[in-house]
Amino acid sequence: MTLLLKEVKPFAQGGNRLCFVHPDNPDRCIKVRRPDFTLADCRRKKGFPKKLRPLSSFDDNREEYQTIQQLQCWIGDSIFDHVYLCFGFVDTDFGPGLETELIRDADGLISLSLKQYLWEVGYTEQCRQAINELTTFWRAQKVPSRDLLTHNIVVQRDPQGAISRLVVIDGLGDPTLIPFRWLPQKYQIRRIDTRLQRFETRLAEFVSNCAAGKQPSQVGVLLHRDDSIENIMTKSDKDERLI
Ligand SMILES: Nc1ncnc2c1ncn2[C@@H]1O[C@H](COP(=O)(O)OP(=O)(O)OP(=O)(O)O)[C@@H](O)[C@H]1O
Ligand SMILES: [Mg+2]
Repeated sequence: MTLLLKEVKPFAQGGNRLCFVHPDNPDRCIKVRRPDFTLADCRRKKGFPKKLRPLSSFDDNREEYQTIQQLQCWIGDSIFDHVYLCFGFVDTDFGPGLETELIRDADGLISLSLKQYLWEVGYTEQCRQAINELTTFWRAQKVPSRDLLTHNIVVQRDPQGAISRLVVIDGLGDPTLIPFRWLPQKYQIRRIDTRLQRFETRLAEFVSNCAAGKQPSQVGVLLHRDDSIENIMTKSDKDERLI
C-alpha cells in the first residue's frame, strides 16, 4: 500500500528530507527525500572527488537505516536511549520513505529540536545536564557520528515539562575514509572527542547569539507540532470515548 503524503503538511523539513507524521500511526515519522532537492541535485553540489560517487551514496535515509542497525548490533538496545527507533522503508507517493519513531513530549506535542528549544526556552541548567548526559553516553559507547548539530538533536520533555532525554535524529555514522570500527580504540576516542569539542564550541556560539537576540535560521524549526486533539489524546482517552 502506498502512503499518500502529498496532501499532508510535513511537520518539519531539513536540507534533504521532508518529515511527516505517519497518516496511520501518530507515534511514527516518515522521512522522504525533498522533491525539490533530489539525490542528483545533491551530488551536483558536491566537489571532486565526491561527485564521482554513486547516487545511492547520497541517500540519507538508506545510510541512516543501515547505520542505526549497525549501532544496535555494536552497542545494544541502550543506543535507543539517545537515537530513535528505525523500522525500515515504506512506499509513499514521494518514493521510498523511512519509517522511524516520532519523538513527542509527554503532552503529545512533537518535541522541539535542541536549536528551537535553546531559542525558545534558553540554555537552562537541566538542558546543560541533558547535554552532558548525551555527550557522556556518546564518548562511553564510542558512537560514530558526523558533527553533532543542534537541529539534529530533539529535546523530549516529561509531563512536568522537564527534559527527559535528548535524541539524535540525523547525522549518524562516520563519513571518513577509514571506517570507524577499524581504528584502534585510542583513535576512536580521539575522533569522538574532536566531534564533541566542536559541538561544544558551536553550542557556546549559538547560545551567545541567542542571548544577543540574533534569531536563528528556520532549519530545524518545526512547521507545526501536530497538536490536533485526535493525535494528542492518549490511548486511554480514546478508549474511554469509545465506551
Ligand atoms: N523522529 C523525529 N521526531 C521528532 N522530530 C523530528 C524527527 N525527525 C526529524 N525531526 C525534526 O525534523 C527536522 C528535519 O529532520 P532531518 O534532520 O531528519 O532532515 P534532514 O533534511 O536530513 O536534515 P539536514 O538538513 O540536517 O540534512 C529536525 O531538525 C527535527 O526538528
Ligand atoms: Mg537534519
